[in-house]
Formats: sequence, C-alpha cells, structure tokens
Amino acid sequence: MQNKPLPPVPDFLYGTAWKEDRTPALVELALRMGFRGIDTANQRRHYFEAGVGQGLAAAYRAGVATRSDVFLQTKFTYQPGQDHRLPYDPTASLSDQVAQSMASSLEHLGTDHVDRYVLHGPASGWGWTDADSEVWEAMIKERDAGRTRLLGVSNVSLSHLEQMTAIHPEVPAFVQNRCYARLGWDREVRRFCGERKIRYQGFSLLTANQEVLRHPLVHEFAKLVHGTPAQVVFSFARAVGMLPLTGTSSADHMRQDLASIGLALPVDAVEAIESLAG
Ligand SMILES: NC(=O)c1ccc[n+]([C@@H]2O[C@H](COP(=O)([O-])OP(=O)(O)OC[C@H]3O[C@@H](n4cnc5c(N)ncnc54)[C@H](OP(=O)(O)O)[C@@H]3O)[C@@H](O)[C@H]2O)c1
Repeated sequence: MQNKPLPPVPDFLYGTAWKEDRTPALVELALRMGFRGIDTANQRRHYFEAGVGQGLAAAYRAGVATRSDVFLQTKFTYQPGQDHRLPYDPTASLSDQVAQSMASSLEHLGTDHVDRYVLHGPASGWGWTDADSEVWEAMIKERDAGRTRLLGVSNVSLSHLEQMTAIHPEVPAFVQNRCYARLGWDREVRRFCGERKIRYQGFSLLTANQEVLRHPLVHEFAKLVHGTPAQVVFSFARAVGMLPLTGTSSADHMRQDLASIGLALPVDAVEAIESLAG
C-alpha cells in the first residue's frame, strides 16, 4: 500500500465534531454535496466516529463515492481529552493505546487504513514531553505498518513544533490548529510550517473570528467577488496556503463553502485580511 501514489488532498475538509446522532446523515450529505475530505477523531466526547463510518458506508452503497475517492483523517486523543468512552485500555502503555485507538478507528470507519493520522494535542500546553515522543513513535509504527499514509499534530504552538522537530528526525506532514485572526491567523506556526513544507490545516476559521465576519472590509470584498463574508474567509485561508475545515450542518452552507474554492480574491484583499486583526 505504501508504494501506491498518495490520493490528492482535497481543497476542503468536512469536520464531524459535535454532530452526535446526526453524524451519519451529515457525512453522507457532505459527500453528496461534493466534499471528499472527512476529519474525525476517536474521541467519543466530541465525535461519533462510528457514525462517520455509517455515513461513509451509506455513501459508498449509494454510489456517491468509493473509499479511494475519500480522504479520511482521524486522531489519537490522550485520556484527559476523553470521557469514560475510551477507545483503549487506560492502563496500557501509551504505545499500546495508540495501536488500540487506531484499530478501533479502522473498525469504526470500515477501512484498513486512513489517509492522515493526527496527535489530537500534546500532553502539555507548555512543551513537547516524553509522553508525546512515545505517542509520535507509536504513530510512526502505525504509518510504517500501512494503517495511515501520513502523520500530523494538532493544537500545537511554535515551541511544541520547535521542540518536537529538534528531537524527532521525522517532521509532521501537517499541522491542524485553531486559527485566530487576532493572532495573525496563527502567523508564527504557519511560517514554521511554510519553511518546512508542512501543510497547515485551519479550523474554527468562522467561529473564532466573528469580528472578521462583521468587518466592513470583508463585506466589501464579499461584494467584489459576489460571495459571502464566510466564503471570503475560506477563500483567504486557501490563498495563504491553508487547508480549511468546515463543520457546517447546513446543505446551503456546504454548497457555499465548497463554492469558495472558485472565488479568487485579489492579492491586495488577501494582504488586507491577513493584517486585519493581528
Ligand atoms: N483538532 C482539534 O482539536 C479540533 C477542534 C475543533 C474542531 N476541529 C475540526 O474542525 C471541524 C470544524 O470545526 P470548526 O470549529 O471550524 O467549525 P464548527 O464549530 O463546526 O462550526 C462552523 C460554524 O460555521 C457556520 N458556517 C459554516 N459555513 C458557513 C457559511 N457558509 N455561512 C455561514 N455560516 C457558516 C456553521 O453554521 P451552520 O451549521 O448553520 O452552517 C457553524 O456554526 C470540526 O468538525 C472538527 O472536525 C478540530
């Protein structure tokens, strides 16, 4: 499997957090609307990963897509980020927890491999720890065994990344972070990623940036490209090299979010939005 060419990374990831019983229907709808990238996590507290698998199965059965058309991304989450519904034995070593969580994800998603596997967040907000190193090494083993194509990390600061890359010869293929405009749209982390060809995935682009959605300049740019402020934010994100996520539950917003791929913001609009708030 590792010698097969990597499937293309889609232009948008559909996020499946907080959808509970609506997860299967929304995943199927997202695929019908044209999304080909699905982000989930083996963290029952916020995600219903087995429901994602049900939605995928329904879409495959209906001929909407096949497994090889779909880019699947899931995550390993430490116990403090979970509730009582754990996908692993909490008394097992962290390496074993990674292997158990991955096995459970593959079962939930009805597949023998995912496309991207993510460390949901480092063990400490203050720096990269030995626990993170053990988990990262275990994730590398999963990748080498063919159960994921690429590996990444989420909810990381610049210092996490600097420490991690100083210790491990293998850098993550991608980073997934909440992207605040008031922090220059995560400028420091994006710069670090850009210099190392690490792909940056941005989430909460709308929910974390309500002030941007209300900003008169953004409304002006929306008028200019015949779009909505939300589409301008997604188009901006793509223009600066991010892979955006959306977690919409609305068919209209799914359509609009995907249509943002075709909107071309002028360079000066991209620069203005980049320096809008941070
Ligand atoms: N790694 C992590 O720790 C982490 C953390 C959070 C999220 N994530 C991932 O990122 C995904 C997305 O999360 P998110 O925080 O970006 O989004 P989200 O919380 O799912 O919310 C998106 C919000 O934007 C609205 N929206 C979407 N498209 C819109 C449009 N075109 N016009 C107006 N409103 C629109 C949605 O409302 P409607 O539903 O009404 O459209 C919803 O309120 C999650 O599902 C998850 O997969 C990862």
